[in-house]
Amino acid sequence: MSELPSNLRITPLAPGQYISEFDCSDPQVNAGLLQHQENSHSSRVIVAIDERQKVLGYYAVSAINIEFANRPETLPPSVTEYPIPAAFISHLAVDKTCARKGVGASLLIDALQRIEDASAQTGTRLVMVQAASTTARTFYLHFGFIPVAGEPARLYLPIKQLNELFRDRTVP
Ligand SMILES: CC(C)(COP(=O)(O)OP(=O)(O)OC[C@H]1O[C@@H](n2cnc3c(N)ncnc32)[C@H](O)[C@@H]1OP(=O)(O)O)[C@@H](O)C(=O)NCCC(=O)NCCS
Repeated sequence: MSELPSNLRITPLAPGQYISEFDCSDPQVNAGLLQHQENSHSSRVIVAIDERQKVLGYYAVSAINIEFANRPETLPPSVTEYPIPAAFISHLAVDKTCARKGVGASLLIDALQRIEDASAQTGTRLVMVQAASTTARTFYLHFGFIPVAGEPARLYLPIKQLNELFRDRTVP
């Protein structure tokens, strides 16, 4: 991995941030960023920006419920037959000019930390992602996401794993 762009900052999407040139090579994901800036959605959008406020990457996160019948098979048996509260990360994408520099990893870690912080209040049991491409799937597998049986593009991480990962972290 080469060096992270200097002065990278990760922050909620705000007016004045420079998104028009954002290009992650996936037109649908590019359009998603514009839509998020124009409309208020049921998800929160977080961007990685450089010192000129140019958006180098982003993700959207929302709260979902997973029907008990669609739960990942490996969830512990303590889960009861109610919908399972989960966080869904969608559209995690990085501008092609700074691919493979760790921007995607920084965004994912930011997302997981925010979700883990919130889970103490919300009871969220897992983080779900939908990999839009083979690259995205490889990326999530690299960070320990588990494919849902029979649905290779859907991957998840139990919150318990995040609790262990961030056990020694001081919440800012
Ligand atoms: C997937 C994506 C977000 C990765 O962002 P990135 O900043 O380039 O990734 P990082 O530099 O943080 O890579 C972290 C790890 O992910 C894996 N990875 C990332 N890109 C990869 C690729 N093209 N091929 C194989 N592995 C890859 C590697 O293990 C990498 O670690 P390494 O560089 O030490 O080997 C980016 O390629 C992207 O935006 N793709 C297009 C949009 C998309 O498909 N988004 C997913 C929507 S669900």
